[in-house]
Amino acid sequence: NTMIIEIDCDRMDEKKLIIAAKILREGGTVAFPTETVYGLGANALEAEAVKKIFEAKGRPSDNPLIVHIARMEEVKSLAKELSEDALRVMEAFWPGPLTVVLNKKEVVPTVITAGLQTVAIRMPAHPIAKKLIALAEVPLAAPSANISGKPSPTRGEHVVEDLDGRVDGIIMGGSCHVGVESTVLDMTGEIPTILRPGGITREMLLQVLERVEVDGALGGDTDAIPKSPGMKYTHYAPKAAVYIVKGIEEKTVEKIKELASVYRIEGKKVGILCFDESYPQYQEGLVKSVGSRRELNLVASNLFKVLREFDGTEVDIILAEAVEEADLGQAIMNRLMKAAGYRVINAK
Ligand code: TXA
Ligand code: MG
Repeated sequence: NTMIIEIDCDRMDEKKLIIAAKILREGGTVAFPTETVYGLGANALEAEAVKKIFEAKGRPSDNPLIVHIARMEEVKSLAKELSEDALRVMEAFWPGPLTVVLNKKEVVPTVITAGLQTVAIRMPAHPIAKKLIALAEVPLAAPSANISGKPSPTRGEHVVEDLDGRVDGIIMGGSCHVGVESTVLDMTGEIPTILRPGGITREMLLQVLERVEVDGALGGDTDAIPKSPGMKYTHYAPKAAVYIVKGIEEKTVEKIKELASVYRIEGKKVGILCFDESYPQYQEGLVKSVGSRRELNLVASNLFKVLREFDGTEVDIILAEAVEEADLGQAIMNRLMKAAGYRVINAK
């Protein structure tokens, strides 16, 4: 049985959080909001508790989890050899949507790291997440609180949809304002490397680090070996087949309309994922806008919700407009590409 715990973010009821923290301390699983997406938490120092996360999500055991902490001192107990660069990024972006990969200490169970000698650590900024970790008095392992393969949950309702009956508790705490998962930055090599683009952009990291690389496997280059095991899974995938259409706006709209009519003739139901700017130009099909191209932060916070909305419809195919891969556009395109299984159509 899953305990559903409603918490108002602006007027936090500490008694309810104490109950949730107790479940966690006793080895149970509780989903909770963070500023990126909802996470499914368990005591990171207890292998048996962590195993429950993998079971509840149906997550492959070779995909490691992020450890969430509430205080800076906790990093030192989980990771060794903190470089100056590592300290500098943590200082600059924590609490916030940045996960740092470091060499792990013995205490971190290998179930969390999927056998790797490194551990991914993040200090979330969301008030409920912060308070919950502090009350639990242990670091929390927490992947996104969705069934493996589905879009990450950005609303309490999404978590209930996926995990009700499979976990001990779900904290319903409103919507996640970043909306895409944290940036995963590997600090164990020569040059800091982005393994997953997210809320903290490469441009932002370059303000505190001299060099930042982007892992080659991110572009869907199938020969590159992903350093972050999670990158190899098709993820975020709605039920319908997604195709991304890339090109200048005018051509993109034209191409999508053309493809949509071909699919319709084949008897398929077509969904279109677009932006506010082009929305009025589509008259047929199920059309959903993810927001304005000029407000990518809002697009990011809407994206998974809109992908999930398509699941509640009959569409067989989703044609999605691409967005420019700069700043937050990198994280947005990365999630769209994964939802599309890297199928891209160029509009010329
Ligand atoms: O925003 C987020 O990061 C959310 C919230 C809940 O904090 N969590 C999240 O967790 O997205 P998850 O499990 O869905 O994604 C974790 C990613 C995966 O791609 C995984 O492969 C990678 O981090 N990862 C974890 N540990 C790693 C390690 N030691 N080395 C490289 N990649 C690692
Ligand atoms: Mg995930």
